[in-house]
Order: sequence, then C-alpha cells, then structure tokens
Amino acid sequence: MSYEPRPEHRFSFGLWTVGNVGRDPFGEPTRAPLDPCDSVRKLGELGAYGVSLHDNDLVPLGAAADERDRIVARFRRALDESGVRVTMATTNLFTHPVFKDGAFTSNDPGVRRFAIQKAMRSIDLGAELGAPVYVFWGGREGTESGAAKSAIDALERYREAINFLCGYVRDQGYPLRFALEPKPNEPRGDVFLATVGHALAFIEQLDYPEMVGVNPEVAHETMAGLNFCHAVAQALWVGKLFHIDLNAQRIGRYDQDLRFGQEDVKEAFLLVRLLEESGYEGPRHFDAHALRMEDADGVWDFAAGCMRTYLILAEKAKAFAADPRVAEALAAAGAPDLGRETVGRYSAEAAALLREEEFDLDALAARGYANERLDQLLVEHLLGV
Ligand code: GCO
Ligand code: MN
Ligand code: MN
Repeated sequence: MSYEPRPEHRFSFGLWTVGNVGRDPFGEPTRAPLDPCDSVRKLGELGAYGVSLHDNDLVPLGAAADERDRIVARFRRALDESGVRVTMATTNLFTHPVFKDGAFTSNDPGVRRFAIQKAMRSIDLGAELGAPVYVFWGGREGTESGAAKSAIDALERYREAINFLCGYVRDQGYPLRFALEPKPNEPRGDVFLATVGHALAFIEQLDYPEMVGVNPEVAHETMAGLNFCHAVAQALWVGKLFHIDLNAQRIGRYDQDLRFGQEDVKEAFLLVRLLEESGYEGPRHFDAHALRMEDADGVWDFAAGCMRTYLILAEKAKAFAADPRVAEALAAAGAPDLGRETVGRYSAEAAALLREEEFDLDALAARGYANERLDQLLVEHLLGV
C-alpha cells in the first residue's frame, strides 16, 4: 500500500491551516505567511482534493472592489491550474476587535448588522468560487460574564441571522448549504451552541432546517470530554453531516489543533471506520496546523501526515471488518443484534403480547458481552500484530 493521497479521497485543508504562522497567546509568529495561491498549488501536488477559506484568508478586510476582483481572479487561476476546488467557505467573524462581544450575538445591533453584511459578502465570494458548503463557526458568540448577555436573546439573534442568510442564499439561487460548527469554549469562556447536540436542536428551530447541517470538529467535542464518534453518528443519523473538521486533541487541554491522528489513535480509527462505512461523501477536511516549532517544510510534513494517517486507518478499518475473528467477536458481543428491531411499531396486539411475555432475568443477566475480546482485537489491529 502506498498510502498516496489522490483527489478521489476528497481530502481538503483550510487556507488558514497550512497558512498558520505559529502565533499563540504567548508568542509571536514563528513562520512567514503563505501566499494562498502557493498553498493551493502545493496542496494539489500533495494529492488534496479541495481547499477551504475564510473571506479574509484571501481578501483583506476593507479591500477595494477592484483589488478584491484582482485577488479572486488570481486565486481562480491557481485553482484551475492545480485542479484543486473550493470545498467550503466561511466568514471571519472573530479577528477584528469589532467582534469582541460577539458577531450575530453581540449586544450591539450595529455590530450584528455588520456581521450579517460581512457574511452576505463572504457568501457571494464562496458562491463565486463554487463552494458547496458554507460554515458558521461562532467563536466569539458567547460570554465570560453570564449576567451581561441573555442566552435566550442570544439564541434568538443567532436564529434571526441564520434565517436571514438562508433567505439571502435562496434569493440569489446559490447552490449552497450551511453547516454550523459547534465549540464549547475558546476564544470565549463559554460559546453558544457548545456541542453537536446543541446545534442539531437549534437547526430544528430555523425557517429552512433542510438547508442547515453541522460541521463537527474532533478537537471541539474532545475539549469538552465528549465522545466525538457519537456526535458524528448522531449527525449522520439525522442526515446532517454536511462537513467535518478533522484534527487531534487531548481532553482537558487548550485548543490544540494537532495533526490528524497525533493523539488518540484508537478514536481516530473509530472515526475513520465510521466515516468510511457510513457512505459519507463530503470532504475529509483537516482543520489543524503544524506545531509551532516547524519551519515551512514542516508544514507540508504536517499536511501529508494528516492524509497518510487517514488512509492508513481506512485500510485498517477494512482489514478489521474483513477479519473472521472480529466477525466472531462482534457476534459474541451481540453487535449485529442491535441492528434488529426490538418491538417494532406500536400496535395494541404487540403491546398485549409484550405484556404477557416471560423473561428469564437470571439468564439475561448472566450472559457475557465479550467486549474484552473485541477490544483487544481492535488494539492488535492498530498495533499491527
Ligand atoms: C477554531 C475553529 C475554526 C473554524 C473556522 C472555519 O477552533 O478556531 O475550528 O478553525 O473551523 O473558522 O469555520
Ligand atoms: Mn477548532
Ligand atoms: Mn474548525
């Protein structure tokens, strides 16, 4: 196996990921900024399928219309030459100081109107570049001082903004779907729509729920100590996995954005297995960055590593599924039985039957579920034994 990434694997990277300059809250940049056109060409050479971007990763805030058009045309040429496509676009609603109290949920109506205007213009850019998915990550939508902002009002304003922008996309006839990206904290102390579950419930309150899905990120659920595979599974279950942000993260740490597979290889394996077996067809998007001590070459080692690890884990998932010992252990665990109906749809007859059914509780309680054997097999597959 060569583990060579190819466009059909649908790997994508944010311009801001490979372009990360290594700034952190304690230290200045350690790398020079990259030209977005060079990043696209390099990603194409490495076998990536797509690139994603914030409006201001490409066009500086406040650029005049002719400058914007010139930058976009140049970027378009780099895309065409490299065969890389824009698979997702999004708005930077967090860097400028105007967003310090939030964007769609700032207490200041002027900031809220500006945020929606900025998103509209950025949606135009995404549509012009052919992005099929538009992400909303509400990094600044939150609080440190709970009394200063009503969470109920904030949710109402969030809904108003997303509804308005759905209306805009429909009106323009753009073939765009939205994906909300939940995160529990960072940069705010507490961020609204903290988890995939919060976001899925919010979507049901929108005017056009069919236009909106989620963009779960490994690091975000993991920071909160939650099970990322369960979050992704729930999104898949309701047909809302529109996009995904892959990286690695340790529980209980700051937002690390590590190379995919760098931490918790077992969870990474389970995630790849889930994505590959579910028929998810969206991009395998990496939202991570090279370690701060890396130079320009290290950035491309990082990018190649993300894709290579994914391909290795995908192959491991196939081998795991094909292993007769695994099939046996799964059967002993009762895993296939969970795929069978329990009582079926309600009917008076079924209820009457169930009411009279006799259970041997001792026998039911005494059975083993053979999880040890199955899990050991999983570990041995990962360890290559
Ligand atoms: C983060 C987020 C962002 C978003 C990006 C695209 O933790 O900073 O993951 O990287 O994904 O803004 O919406
Ligand atoms: Mn993140
Ligand atoms: Mn992200």
